[in-house]
Amino acid sequence: MKIKISGLADLDEAARKLLNYAAEEKVFIFEGDMGAGKTTFIKSVANALGVKDLVSSPTFSIVNEYDAFGQPVYHFDFYRIKTLQEAYDIGYEEYFYSGNFCFIEWPQKVAELLPYSYIKTEIAIVSESERELLITKI
Ligand SMILES: Nc1ncnc2c1ncn2[C@@H]1O[C@H](COP(=O)(O)OP(=O)(O)O)[C@@H](O)[C@H]1O
Ligand SMILES: [Mg+2]
Repeated sequence: MKIKISGLADLDEAARKLLNYAAEEKVFIFEGDMGAGKTTFIKSVANALGVKDLVSSPTFSIVNEYDAFGQPVYHFDFYRIKTLQEAYDIGYEEYFYSGNFCFIEWPQKVAELLPYSYIKTEIAIVSESERELLITKI
């Protein structure tokens, strides 16, 4: 599925489309250059699930946990990890296989550890405010 984003105001609707498309899938990876809008889009997706917490890039902690009506939502940013050991150290399996929503930035850093199936969102920058989302089931 392809979604054209003209500006920030389009992200909430795109988030709902992503969640509908995903159906029962709980693991989502987000690819795109620095500044493409991965964190910004994840904020919309988390809000669509009912997350009221501040959603921001967990660059220093690797994973942030939010609350969606009593259910945890996990948000990862693997940009800074140097070895897979750092993913083992945070106990990535407990999160990825928890059955709770997982949103993963910089999944390329943990490609070997991703589950068998997940939803991939590729974000391409079209202009300062425009983006194109390419969403696929893996
Ligand atoms: N349509 C859009 N979608 C997402 N971000 C946008 C859009 N238009 C402008 N931006 C801006 O681009 C920046 C994206 O930053 P961020 O979400 O942190 O990117 P990433 O997590 O991919 O590095 C933010 O400053 C955001 O406000
Ligand atoms: Mg980010």
